[in-house]
Amino acid sequence: MTRIGLLTDLASRSLDEDLEPLTAALRALGVDVDPLPWDDPAATSASRLRGFDLVVVRSPWNYHHRADAYLAEIDRMAAVVAVLNEPALLRWNVDKRYLDDLVAAGVPVVPTRFVPPGGDLRSTLEDLAVGASGEFVVKPSVSAGSKNTARFRRTQTDAAGRLVQDLHRLGKTVMVQPYLDRVDSDGETALVYVDGRFSHGLRKGPLLQLDAGLVAGTFAEEEMSGRVPDAAQRQVADRIIAVLVERFGSVPLYARIDLLDDAEGRPVLLEAELNEPSLFHLHAPGSAERFAAAIVARTGDPVRPSRSR
Ligand SMILES: Nc1ncnc2c1ncn2[C@@H]1O[C@H](COP(=O)(O)OP(=O)(O)O)[C@@H](O)[C@H]1O
Ligand SMILES: [Mg+2]
Repeated sequence: MTRIGLLTDLASRSLDEDLEPLTAALRALGVDVDPLPWDDPAATSASRLRGFDLVVVRSPWNYHHRADAYLAEIDRMAAVVAVLNEPALLRWNVDKRYLDDLVAAGVPVVPTRFVPPGGDLRSTLEDLAVGASGEFVVKPSVSAGSKNTARFRRTQTDAAGRLVQDLHRLGKTVMVQPYLDRVDSDGETALVYVDGRFSHGLRKGPLLQLDAGLVAGTFAEEEMSGRVPDAAQRQVADRIIAVLVERFGSVPLYARIDLLDDAEGRPVLLEAELNEPSLFHLHAPGSAERFAAAIVARTGDPVRPSRSR
């Protein structure tokens, strides 16, 4: 029997709302499924992994606290079992400096400056042309779940500078972006692709309040609903998938492309999630079944018709 491992972590496995519908959809295709916490050595020992046909990365959400250890674990696992998305894609995607590669490929991206330890916030804000009335965002280039992410007024450079210093002290590169305030009314648009084909779209409510402090817990509470992306959004996301295929020579099994609107209302990339995106199956009926079929197809087994629905 085909056996699939869904990579998570010990703390996130009970938080990941996708695991249950995805597990059910895979089981309906006659596949054996187990969650695999990457931070549980017994669960991911080489001898155990050999019993799996494929490991699909789903919710190792604590990875960003020790990204190097996580990527080393991915490589170790990939030496004994197929891991998707491909490790090279995961490695590239863990650090948002990949945004510069996408800019170079002609993708419209939220204007972003990276400030490595030693770099200076004030000159960066001038370079980014965050005007006197403008607001901006500071966040680490390796992060998830809105951790250590905050929104500031242009007059709050001292407070922002303290966050930058704290992150630099942790050895993190910081990213600075203008706050794209259309998110306050229109939200963020996520486009999920499975096997390079558009699967479903979502709206995510705005997450950053002024003077709100930093997120506690694993991630900020997200206000999600289904959304049909418009043609311009589809075009940007399709283009990103094409760039990935060209760069890595293979189609990502899954991708979530998160877009904001710029001041003129044009879609721009906030992040391309190829590592551990929530796919929000509960907000998109049929999406877990589509994803399950794509996963099973990657094991080389013909997909069996669903028995349960
Ligand atoms: N430049 C920005 N303009 C407006 N909102 C932003 C910006 N950057 C981040 N945010 C808000 O913060 C959230 C988290 O930032 P994001 O870049 O998606 O990082 P993460 O990897 O933590 O999800 C976003 O979902 C969005 O609500
Ligand atoms: Mg995000």
